[in-house]
Amino acid sequence: MHKDAERILFTEEEIKNAVEKLGTQIRKDYDGKNPLFVGILKGSVMFMADVVRAAEIDCGIDFMVAKSYGNAAVSSGNVRILKDIDTDVAGRDVIIVEDILDTARTISSVMEIFRTRNAASVKICTLLDKVTTKKVADIKADYKCFDVGDEFVIGYGLDYAEQYRGLKYIGVLKREIYEH
Ligand code: IMP
Repeated sequence: MHKDAERILFTEEEIKNAVEKLGTQIRKDYDGKNPLFVGILKGSVMFMADVVRAAEIDCGIDFMVAKSYGNAAVSSGNVRILKDIDTDVAGRDVIIVEDILDTARTISSVMEIFRTRNAASVKICTLLDKVTTKKVADIKADYKCFDVGDEFVIGYGLDYAEQYRGLKYIGVLKREIYEH
């Protein structure tokens, strides 16, 4: 385990199984459709790559950069779209792929954008859901792998100050790393 991690929450094997299950569900729900998976960079990269392959359906992929956190472990409540998708979403079934839903501020802004652009449907697919945090505007995940509590988590795409994204597991970051 990484020295900055307090403990492992989900192992590589547990993540793999959960993502496979989610992929199967998405395959059933989008049978005969051609959805567009939109990954919110950078945290969703590992999850996006795995969930799209687990779904095994005809689909498109695209990416967006939306930021609500700086280098701090608390939400700033400030969402900025730094890179937009290139794909026309009008009439398209969109699945937004996120690493973690915290306040859901990021994703609610992104959903709003896709609705304005006349997407046929917009669903949320998240790796983790911080169930302890109050969400904005009734946002709920349509697809999710795991619930987590009020802890700062790292690995499998998730970072703190751009570190730890490459860990194969999801772990809890030691408090002393972000509280000083
Ligand atoms: P929200 O807009 O408050 O839902 O924030 C979502 C974004 O905050 C996620 O996409 C992550 O980039 C970041 N985030 C929130 N909680 C954590 C965490 O525990 N670890 C790493 N990143 C987090």
